[in-house]
Amino acid sequence: MGAACSSGKEQLVDQPKQVAATKPADAPAKPAAVPAAATSDPPKASADQAASSTPQPAATAGEQSAGPKPLKVFLIFYSTYGHILKLAETYKEALEKEEGVEVAIYQVPEILSPEVLEKMHAPPKSAHPVIDPHTLDQADAFVFGFPTRFGMMASQMKSFFDATGVLWQKGALHGKPASMFTSTASQGGGQETTIMTAVTQLAHHGMIFVPAGYAAGGVMFGVDEAKGGSPWGAGTLAGADGSRQPSEAELEAARVQAKNFATVAKKLAA
Ligand SMILES: Cc1cc2nc3c(=O)[nH]c(=O)nc-3n(C[C@H](O)[C@H](O)[C@H](O)COP(=O)(O)O)c2cc1C
Repeated sequence: MGAACSSGKEQLVDQPKQVAATKPADAPAKPAAVPAAATSDPPKASADQAASSTPQPAATAGEQSAGPKPLKVFLIFYSTYGHILKLAETYKEALEKEEGVEVAIYQVPEILSPEVLEKMHAPPKSAHPVIDPHTLDQADAFVFGFPTRFGMMASQMKSFFDATGVLWQKGALHGKPASMFTSTASQGGGQETTIMTAVTQLAHHGMIFVPAGYAAGGVMFGVDEAKGGSPWGAGTLAGADGSRQPSEAELEAARVQAKNFATVAKKLAA
């Protein structure tokens, strides 16, 4: 599958170690011990960057305490090659145009080694802060963006969700709305299944999945050009070698999804 996928072997080789490291987070027998272990040892970059980013939403909320309480949205993404990054920044810009919405954007910790990332020809990470799972309860709503890996979310995003056990125990995210968007190399590569299978994460937290539906209208129906996205959420096609960039139609669908999500999330939070 070209550059975007050609290094799948390296990733697959690397993954079992990571899965083994985080597997206890799923163990139902001892839920109390698991999340603590999973969240107490985040990657160094995560801890450092999260420390600097954590106060951001609280400070902003404090400044606006005189007016109506803004809807605090955490937009959390993972991107290897930048396609999800572009969608994430576009989604964020659109959310920020909505009245009474405050957005903080984060990336999840990388779990692949620098050596593996180099073999995958991955560019350096963006400067967005790395999310600290302990801070999730500060948000009223969530947007998650992640590329597909064989039709499901990338393991980096799954690893992040695996570190939310403590919040699950407290029911801290119960009832909070969330929307999602994705990226695949090809049109049949998982635009729908990647989001559909990710809904399980939301369900277990009691979160409310807000789909994109067909709110983007014509953009959703045109068949003259190849494009990502589905009623499940916005999406882009990276191409087999990763060279294709998000098209204007795909970005517009993300903007519409953002606007629609803000409307629904504000109603739920009211
Ligand atoms: C291990 C691996 C598995 C992948 N599986 C799929 C797949 O099943 N379907 C697909 O269309 N693309 C697949 N891809 C391509 C990625 O989805 C693509 O690189 C990604 O969407 C680009 O987004 P990003 O630039 O934000 O990382 C795979 C890539 C890797 C490395």
